[in-house]
Amino acid sequence: MGGIQGIRIAYGADYNPEQWSREVWKEDLELMRQAGVSLVSLAIFAWSELEPSSGDYRFEWLDDVMDGLDGAGIKANLSNATASPPPWFSATFPETLPVLADGTRVWPGARQGFCPSSPIYREHALRLTRMIAERYREHPALAMWHVSNEIGNHNILCYCDVSAAAFRTWLETRYRDLDQLNEAWGTSFWGQRYSDWQQILPPRQAASFGNPTHDLDFRRFSSDACLSIYRAERDVLRSVTPDVAVTTNLTPNHREFDYWSWAPDLDVIAVDHYLKAADPDAHVELAFTADVARGLAGGEPWMLMEHSTSAVNWQPRNVAKQPGEMTRNSLQHVARGADAVMFFQWRASRFGAEKYHSAMVPHAGTETKVWREVVQLGEVLDRLAEVAGTTLQAEVAFLFDWQSGWALDTPSHPSIDVEYRDQVHSLYRSLWNAGVTVDVVAPGADLSGYGLVVVPSLYITNTGTARSIDEFVAAGGAVIVTYMSGVVDDNLHVFSGAFPGAFRDVLGVRVEEFFPLREGETATLDDGSRASVWSELLHLEGAEAIASYVDGPLPGTPAVTVNEYGEGRAWYLATRLEQGTVDNLVQDVLRTLKIRPPIPMITAPAGVEATRRTGSAGSYLFLINHGVETAHLMAKGRELITGRDVAGTLALRAGAVAVVREETG
Ligand code: GLA
Repeated sequence: MGGIQGIRIAYGADYNPEQWSREVWKEDLELMRQAGVSLVSLAIFAWSELEPSSGDYRFEWLDDVMDGLDGAGIKANLSNATASPPPWFSATFPETLPVLADGTRVWPGARQGFCPSSPIYREHALRLTRMIAERYREHPALAMWHVSNEIGNHNILCYCDVSAAAFRTWLETRYRDLDQLNEAWGTSFWGQRYSDWQQILPPRQAASFGNPTHDLDFRRFSSDACLSIYRAERDVLRSVTPDVAVTTNLTPNHREFDYWSWAPDLDVIAVDHYLKAADPDAHVELAFTADVARGLAGGEPWMLMEHSTSAVNWQPRNVAKQPGEMTRNSLQHVARGADAVMFFQWRASRFGAEKYHSAMVPHAGTETKVWREVVQLGEVLDRLAEVAGTTLQAEVAFLFDWQSGWALDTPSHPSIDVEYRDQVHSLYRSLWNAGVTVDVVAPGADLSGYGLVVVPSLYITNTGTARSIDEFVAAGGAVIVTYMSGVVDDNLHVFSGAFPGAFRDVLGVRVEEFFPLREGETATLDDGSRASVWSELLHLEGAEAIASYVDGPLPGTPAVTVNEYGEGRAWYLATRLEQGTVDNLVQDVLRTLKIRPPIPMITAPAGVEATRRTGSAGSYLFLINHGVETAHLMAKGRELITGRDVAGTLALRAGAVAVVREETG
């Protein structure tokens, strides 16, 4: 049976009853029933309510909330409440407050005001975790544990002395002896050789560019330090309730975490996603984040732990959602493998930093667009219950690497305009435009079973990753690689010889020198397209040129190439192409490889998205029209939202979603 902890498609929100009176709690339960809420994330920021002064625990109110939920048949994704240490904690232990790179210690007053490596924080957090676990271990409302909240979101990079000591311990484990560290960090450059571990500090603000490998290792350490908080709190919960699933809400859009190393520690992957309201094509970025979540889940169903019913409060201009948009966003996540649709938060707060953030119950109450849609979405998810547990299949793997992002986004590189996420989103967008489903995978992942692997700006490429791509192509696979890939190893040392070091053989090219373009400068290619940001003095060593420059700094030099390698083929995009050009190239490659969207689009105007979830229960086609015109699409079976049969084609109006249980045979 599919579903999150036995709930088919879980529906709910962060629930913060500590902000409300008991009268409101009663109304909450009635409204949750009306909306079809099945799961709420509870007590996330409740530490100061549960332990108002050190060791003085007050659980009675939470007992009542848990009992009320149980009475209403609603399950709790109960938090261990460690995300926001109370004022008494920071006042007693000011040394636990995080320190910025310039040495400033931040003050209390917001959430996550603690150093991730603080043993004092850990001791108190684990004590609270155990108290909560012991108290609710047998409670019938308990469905799963929610460790902390977006661990590290505000405090991941702490530069205090405690972090420095923890960083050194982490480095000693990684390098064992100082010579190895000196070698890895290239400390013979700028006279940085360390002669004692104690000399090593976090990369605090220095006189000029710091050592990039020092910086990268600090980011690796910081991601691990946050993971270690999760593990420690999870272990306490597991020791008390070995059979209750544990998770935490990840933020794939936050750049500071390497979630590939976190994923195996979560019993179920849970992510938060907020639309970039200023982006008219935000649904493409939503699709990418959902695919990242599915990738972290190894293809299994995952939870959308938070998104918003309408506007948020923390963007410069908080655009509200149009009618239907919230439902469309929610079902788009389900279409890409989510088995839970949850919001921040249940009821809009009357006070505090997020009082203008939308919620399932808005300030204006139930006579509202948001509430009507919340209730309708509950009904829709109920009708989609049979989809829970089904999975997606993809022929394209998309290689995504947080660490390459960290490394490329630091200063002291050939061009400030080379941004990791720019290439990621450009290539992903082309695949989305082509309508094909992709699996987001980690560097070094098993690529067998895929027809195409897409490798946007994989700056850091170790020999294992390079070998897996070589072997994949040699055995008949196809790969698309974009510029600034394969340039450095895990220590950020440039591969000797020529760029793109790790991929020279498979791509059949040799790059003699980088030629970044000036701000706003473009170069014309002989197919009429235009390049910007980047060019490189590239020589063919087996590859063929698909397009070459006719002007700019390198007239006559190839900019896009393809190489026959073993049984397969490798494309190289050595410049930043316009989106339409990347779209055409990707579509040509997909056509050659016969990789197709889940359904033929009969008259598919731009913006139609189709995915298929399959399982023993059946095959479910999700169709979402993000465009502005009605789309006519091929489908046959029972449409689950309307309950109508679809005989062969389906007219999907602009903004609408259909989920067809497909007829087999
Ligand atoms: C994050 C947090 C929530 C809330 C929302 C607002 O996802 O986890 O507590 O602050 O952002 O969008």
